[in-house]
Amino acid sequence: MSKTIRIPDAGEKQALYKEAKVKLQGLLDAETDELVIMASVAAVLHDLMPHYFWTGFYRVVGNELVIGPYQGTPACLRIAQGRGVCGRAWETGETQVVEDVHAFPGHIACDARSESEIVVPWRDGAGKVIALLDVDSTLKAAFDEVDREGLEKLHGELQRD
Ligand code: SME
Repeated sequence: MSKTIRIPDAGEKQALYKEAKVKLQGLLDAETDELVIMASVAAVLHDLMPHYFWTGFYRVVGNELVIGPYQGTPACLRIAQGRGVCGRAWETGETQVVEDVHAFPGHIACDARSESEIVVPWRDGAGKVIALLDVDSTLKAAFDEVDREGLEKLHGELQRD
């Protein structure tokens, strides 16, 4: 079943990120396996968030990014260092909010329907980037500071030592 994509207002987004946190903390409890955590984060967020079209992880494996758990249409399997929005987030260690993917030089289009994107570095307890949480929307400017704050906060709340 495909979902109808719409952009919630700021208040609804904040409430949904809070709901995601409660669901994930309940689901994961003391779980420490990163694969289990990533799979659960992708599933809960994709199911809850009306503006998410593709929701998943690219894991840092050697000098490239390799697809991890995700929800949505089949996507690119590997991304070379420095490529795309994911590569930029990995390089800089900073969340990337892209209002219009067509205006981002080097953006990698895994699905032609993607119009905007947010990529959040995912770190281990020592602060090392181990993956990128990547979310695409079929609507332009679907992500903003509320999403950045919501996802960064959620990551902090789920981080393990
Ligand atoms: N658009 C990403 C590639 C991954 S897909 O969005 C799933 C990028 O430019 O890094």
